Amino acid sequence: MLTKILSFLFAVISFITMSPLSKFDYSDKLGDENYQGLKDHYADYFDMGVAVGGWHCRNKDYSAMILKNFTSLTAENAFKQPAINPKEGVWNFDEADEIANFCRQNGLKLRGHCLVWGGLGSWMSRDDDGNLVSKEVYYQRLRDYITVMMTRYGDVVHTWDVVNEPFGYSKSTGAFKDNDLYQICGEEYITKAFEIAHEVDPSAVLVLNETKVVNNNAKQKFLLQYVEKWRSEGVPISAVGIQGHWETFKLNESPKRLQKIIDKLYKLGVDIQITEVDIAVTATDKEILEEVPKNIDLLQAKKYAQMFEVLRNNADKISSVTFWGVNDNRSYKTADGQSYHKWQLLFDKDNMPKNAFYAVCDF
Ligand code: GLA
Repeated sequence: MLTKILSFLFAVISFITMSPLSKFDYSDKLGDENYQGLKDHYADYFDMGVAVGGWHCRNKDYSAMILKNFTSLTAENAFKQPAINPKEGVWNFDEADEIANFCRQNGLKLRGHCLVWGGLGSWMSRDDDGNLVSKEVYYQRLRDYITVMMTRYGDVVHTWDVVNEPFGYSKSTGAFKDNDLYQICGEEYITKAFEIAHEVDPSAVLVLNETKVVNNNAKQKFLLQYVEKWRSEGVPISAVGIQGHWETFKLNESPKRLQKIIDKLYKLGVDIQITEVDIAVTATDKEILEEVPKNIDLLQAKKYAQMFEVLRNNADKISSVTFWGVNDNRSYKTADGQSYHKWQLLFDKDNMPKNAFYAVCDF
């Protein structure tokens, strides 16, 4: 219901502000199998990436579609530590290898996502009795882990999300998420990971990847403050990843605010990567849209167009833009277990470009 009310309001605003939604209606192009790939539209701007699983690389239709549209991949889950190294001494390289080999064979870049994510449960921070390990033990495990990963994939992965989502959401909860790693090491777990990664591969681009930095003021402030501090202390953070995961109807995830955070990061001297783009059409997780009404589809295309206009205008500061998922055929679960779609990507369930695709490529 909320989504429908908001879409009505947004459509009225579009009309009043003389920015008619019909501008984002590409009905004449929808269904054209010979469309020009995303990567060709953006060849002069930045790498176009997408998050995948091993099965995408194995599937003929998906792999062809990926090669047509993207120049860079990120493993959606296969490189995450709980997936690849769930227990001490146990390594599941198969899916990560499959994605890495697909990139090697097809000349695609690969982003390594992610070396440290304190929010995820991990054997590395606990002993056999479930107690937190000492800082020394954790750092030794971290060094071993980073060394294995960066050595095995160093020929194809040049950019690593070294630390994912370390910051908190509000002043009252503090600048950092209070996870195991923070409890063991304080904020040093973040800087240490960058130092180790830099020692293992001094030429790698090392990224601090964070979510909700466009709309959440506290998080944005923490990120800017600490990146500036750490870099002035010589911590080898070379890039910041702005994840994305935006919403069509969120007013504070606006083109203006996106431009502002890009300007602020640029002043800090870091490369900027947009690492997990999607723009959901549902205003809340409780809402289930079985299909997307036309005006909502057009509003999503408009938001995509606005955000990508900002990204193109800042192409000199941004090296890659990665979509979090190939197409809309991704289902999520509501709190009460129902499955639903967020219809958040540029391609529909059959891998065909949506209005949002053409809106992003129409410049
Ligand atoms: C975060 C992570 C991603 C992924 C998304 C959820 O943004 O960085 O790896 O798990 O959450 O889709």
